[in-house]
Amino acid sequence: AKDQTTRICCIGAGYVGTCTSAVLAYKNPSVRITVVDTSEAKIGAWRSRSFPISEPCLQEILKQVVERLAFSTDIEAAINAADLIFICVDTPTVTKGTGEGFALDTSAVVACVAKIVEVSTSDKIIVPCGTADQLRKLITQKNTKGLNFEVLSNPEFLAEGTAIHDLLHPDRVIIGAENTPKGSNAAARLVSLYQAWIPSDRIKTTNTWSSELGKLAANAMLAQRISSINSLTAICESVGADIQDISQIVGLDHRIGPHMLQASIGFGGSCFEKDIRCLVYLAESLGFRHIARYWMADLEMNDFQKASQTERITSLLGPLASSKLTIAVLGFSFKAGTTDVRSTPVLTIVRDLVGRGHKVKIFDPKAKKEDIQETLCKANLGRERAIVSLNAMQACDGAHVIAIATAWDEFRTRPGLRRMDWKSIADGMQQPRLMFDGCNVVDAKYLEGLGMKVLELGRKQ
Ligand code: UGA
Repeated sequence: AKDQTTRICCIGAGYVGTCTSAVLAYKNPSVRITVVDTSEAKIGAWRSRSFPISEPCLQEILKQVVERLAFSTDIEAAINAADLIFICVDTPTVTKGTGEGFALDTSAVVACVAKIVEVSTSDKIIVPCGTADQLRKLITQKNTKGLNFEVLSNPEFLAEGTAIHDLLHPDRVIIGAENTPKGSNAAARLVSLYQAWIPSDRIKTTNTWSSELGKLAANAMLAQRISSINSLTAICESVGADIQDISQIVGLDHRIGPHMLQASIGFGGSCFEKDIRCLVYLAESLGFRHIARYWMADLEMNDFQKASQTERITSLLGPLASSKLTIAVLGFSFKAGTTDVRSTPVLTIVRDLVGRGHKVKIFDPKAKKEDIQETLCKANLGRERAIVSLNAMQACDGAHVIAIATAWDEFRTRPGLRRMDWKSIADGMQQPRLMFDGCNVVDAKYLEGLGMKVLELGRKQ
């Protein structure tokens, strides 16, 4: 059909852009997609198949769509060839000036839109990853050629480590459009791409504000569940309740459900905190201070949770805590199943331990050593105080304390799941041989049998 979209340009070759493009191409054989990025290094890596991100199934899908999905740095050519453009670039939190620490920094998106308007010679549908309204205004200002640009909102709901699965089997796809015939027409074209594999009742079209606020609300409420369960860990530790049992008791109520109730040392990742800050900023700017405070409490709870773990370890160490100890931190990525170390909650623990004068040795089974080092460096944690070890043995050798900070399977101790030589690890430790399990992955009895003292999250010591 004349209106059928067949040429797509995706600006931004990161997580969201690449995974979404790969699945769209995979499920729509008539579509051609070019993923562009200003970073030669990133595009080069995708082209040379030394993928900059690791995501299950992504490689297989890219192999199958290799004829129809290209990576390029020629942004102008790709924009011009496309009739539908996805903008999947970073929108970090503003670090300076108005909205500092809360608002979204949309400058990269704005630059993309300016570029699109400047170089386009035909009508386009634009799908940014945020603030559609702001972009429409910008387009109206800059559009001197009389072309038609439709802005759609299509928030992603991908979790790192399951991005392809989430794209293939989404709970829902949301497409926000302006309530005009042209807006509806543009939305219908994007809907038809998703209909290639997603049942129509899971594709919801709405206005752009609902679409954008809906995304913020979903992330804020997921994070809220984690903060809620995390707020109960300290109570469990005091009274002798077990946080795992609490999660189960709560989650068995079908109205609540079992997901996102795993207690942790705090949530991390690039989305939850950023989106809550965005919601807080929105509420503040509309004059709703109570609402802003309500959501802010989730972040405060999360900061409290991250900070209280070091407190707890330290209080258990007693007078020893004031001597210089060696502490092995196992796991550094922001959650198991991803190599991503940006916004990891583990950094707080490392920083606090180093701040108290201890030497920290970090090991992560999947995250790249350079990425961990870069994160430590940005946090001003010098190499003499926080070092990255090549394996768990090396990290734990001579340690007084081991802290498990990411729930990697590698750290599980149950028979059949056990991958590490815990006996040698225990033998190589120094007194008091304390194991802090921040992820509830070890079997305390087993490690105690090896001479360790075990401290668990959300359980009385
Ligand atoms: C999150 C959402 O889950 C996605 O739906 C959303 O699309 C994405 O943000 C986004 O906005 O792009 P992600 O940040 O990749 O995905 O990871 P999650 O699996 O949600 O985990 C976030 C953090 O919460 C991690 O630090 C994780 O360890 C922690 N978490 C998660 C818990 O502490 N307890 C839980 O029960 C679940």
